[in-house]
Amino acid sequence: MSYTVYAHRGASSYAPENTLRSFYMGLEMGANGIETDVQRTKDGVLVLFHDDTLERVTGAHGSIADYTLQELRALRVVCPEFPERTDVICTLEEFLEHFSWRPLTFAVELKQPGTEAQTLTLLDRYGMKERTWITSFSLPALACTHALAPDWRLGWLAEDFSDDDLVLARQTGIGQLCPEARTLHAERVRQWNAAGFSVRAWGIADETLMRRAVQCGTDGQTVNFPDRLLAWLRER
Ligand code: G3P
Ligand code: CA
Repeated sequence: MSYTVYAHRGASSYAPENTLRSFYMGLEMGANGIETDVQRTKDGVLVLFHDDTLERVTGAHGSIADYTLQELRALRVVCPEFPERTDVICTLEEFLEHFSWRPLTFAVELKQPGTEAQTLTLLDRYGMKERTWITSFSLPALACTHALAPDWRLGWLAEDFSDDDLVLARQTGIGQLCPEARTLHAERVRQWNAAGFSVRAWGIADETLMRRAVQCGTDGQTVNFPDRLLAWLRER
C-alpha cells in the first residue's frame, strides 16, 4: 500500500490515545504508520501526550511538565468513548522499544519548545531517521530541528499553506506539508507535489474528510479510526 495510514495517537477512537494499547490497536487494524506527540516531564523524561493539560484524558490538574514520570505513572489515561479501556502514559523510549524495529512510517510531533535536541538524540539511537517525519505546528521548532540535524525529514502542520509559506518551508528544510483536511483542494495538492513536497492531511473529523483527503491526492493522513480508512481503501 503506497498510501500512509497513520494511526493518530494510535487508534484513538477506540483506545486511550498515545498509549501502547492504542498504538497496538492501530497496527492490528493494519495501519502502516503511527503518529504521536512528544512532551517532557518535570524530571526531564520524554513522554507521549497531546494536550497542554492533563484534565481531558486523565482527570488530573496541571500539565506534563508539572509532574515527574513516577507521578504521571500513577494516572490512568482514559478513552472517552470506551471509559473501561485505560492505560498508563508511555515514554518515547518505551514506544521506540516496541515499534522502532517495525516496517512503519512515523510522525513524531514536537509539542513543547526546547525538546528538539533530546527528541532527535533518542530517535537517532533507535535508527529512526529514514522512517520518521518530525512534525510541528511551530516553524521555529522545525528550524531548530533542521539546524541540529539537517538530514532529518520534517513535516509542517498548519491549517493551509500559501505560496509564501512554501518558500519558508524550503528555507527550513521541510519536505512534507501537513494541511488540515477541510482546507484541501486537489489542484493545490498537485502543485505542492510538483514543487517537491509530500502532503499529509490531519484533522480527519469524519469519514467524509477521510475520503476527501485521499481523493485530493494526499500521500497519507493521520486518522483516529484506521480500520474505516483501510476498509474504504480496500473497497475502492
Ligand atoms: O496529524 C497531526 C495532528 O496530530 C495534528 O493535530 O492536535 O492532533 O496534534 P493534533
Ligand atoms: Ca499530533
